[in-house]
Amino acid sequence: MSHTDADTQHLSLRSDEDVVRLRQCVRELMIAAGFSLLEQTRMITAASELARNTLRYGGGGEAHVRRLLTGSRKGIGLAFIDQGPGIADIDLALTEGFTTGGGMGVGLSGARRLADEFDIASAPGQGTTVQISKWKSF
Ligand SMILES: Nc1ncnc2c1ncn2[C@@H]1O[C@H](COP(=O)(O)OP(=O)(O)O)[C@@H](O)[C@H]1O
Ligand SMILES: [Mg+2]
Repeated sequence: MSHTDADTQHLSLRSDEDVVRLRQCVRELMIAAGFSLLEQTRMITAASELARNTLRYGGGGEAHVRRLLTGSRKGIGLAFIDQGPGIADIDLALTEGFTTGGGMGVGLSGARRLADEFDIASAPGQGTTVQISKWKSF
């Protein structure tokens, strides 16, 4: 979908404190855009899961937080980028309950369910980028 990146904030993801900062950033932007508390909570939950994956599996990386603007809609877009080992089988990674790290295996699948749009690009040795967005009508 074509959209204007009204602005983009780049946040480092190296520590738990960085995840807290990301959550605050997403919350503030969504409040400013007029998203409901439920929508904020859904997106912040998804963002937390993806940020923790960046830390745990990707060896750290960064998050990009964007305001999105089309002719009739505004939204928020998040990208989680790492240069870690990547994911060999993306369908498997998206299967509820699948984990290679002793987790619950519901982070990726949950993020996909909670966001309006979800995209993952990953390959062994090429790192991982996960993008999610949520849209609001004017
Ligand atoms: N950024 C990433 N880099 C490499 N592998 C990842 C990444 N994110 C997720 N994965 C893989 O996908 C699996 C499922 O992730 P997720 O659904 O969040 O469950 P969990 O974090 O509980 O393992 C992880 O166990 C891991 O194998
Ligand atoms: Mg996870």
